[in-house]
Amino acid sequence: MPEVVCPLCEGSGWKTVERGGVSGVERCDCARETRSARLEEASGIPPLYKDASFVSFQIPANNDIAARDLSRIRASVSKYASDFLPTQPKPGLLLIGEPGSGKTHLAVAALRVIIARGFQGIFFDYQNLIDRIRSGFDPNSGSSDREAYNTALDAEVLLIDDLGSHRVLPWIEDVVTSIITHRCNHRKPLIATTNLPDPDAGGRISQRQPDGSPEYRRTLADQIGERARSRLFEMCKLELMPLVGDYRLRKTAAW
Ligand SMILES: Nc1ncnc2c1ncn2[C@@H]1O[C@H](COP(=O)(O)OP(=O)(O)OP(=O)(O)O)[C@@H](O)[C@H]1O
Ligand SMILES: [Mg+2]
Ligand SMILES: [Zn+2]
Repeated sequence: MPEVVCPLCEGSGWKTVERGGVSGVERCDCARETRSARLEEASGIPPLYKDASFVSFQIPANNDIAARDLSRIRASVSKYASDFLPTQPKPGLLLIGEPGSGKTHLAVAALRVIIARGFQGIFFDYQNLIDRIRSGFDPNSGSSDREAYNTALDAEVLLIDDLGSHRVLPWIEDVVTSIITHRCNHRKPLIATTNLPDPDAGGRISQRQPDGSPEYRRTLADQIGERARSRLFEMCKLELMPLVGDYRLRKTAAW
């Protein structure tokens, strides 16, 4: 099939523009589209979330309070993504909420919009990131595992999904602190999701066990360390998911 050459730039990726009688060049739309398509392909967004967008994020029809809260959070995350600039005072996003409330869906939707705007966005599942960093320490491991740590440090925008879900070991706390500190110092935004409670985010720190006795829930600080948690709050806009129940369980019921 013959390749179609863009009529605006004749395939160069740059087009001539006239402004106030002065002519110059700027990136052609075709080049921008190819760049974001390439970036999306390299983003590591899992197939399960390939259709996750703000449009596919549904608002329940049978529950007014959940509908209002979910609409508000969808609008707010969508605005975050379309206004995103690394130089903003809080360029990151932290989504906290119960399992199945739609955190990963919204975080991926935001990452997609940011990628479409030409930024490099990388998705990492926390467990997988930690596993790859650990095997990267092994001299016999493949180079892609060694690269995982550098990617986590330097990707333009990093999404860490399910932050803190791994069991706690001192080296993990050090690695997470170093990634978050490095990104914070270099103004490299981080988008993170977690279902760990945090006292400052209004999360419930204890819950009743079946016999009525209180059970302490491990917090975000318990899992990633106080220093990483503090920097995360410093660099991220915080969004709390409303208590809407698990979408995975409700999917079959009318919504
Ligand atoms: N409001 C919604 N509209 C459409 N799909 C949704 C909605 N909420 C969640 N989903 C879908 O339900 C599934 C679970 O949602 P998601 O993975 O975003 O939950 P989560 O809050 O990240 O949960 P966990 O804490 O377990 O990681 C996904 O397939 C997601 O696309
Ligand atoms: Mg999730
Ligand atoms: Zn072009």
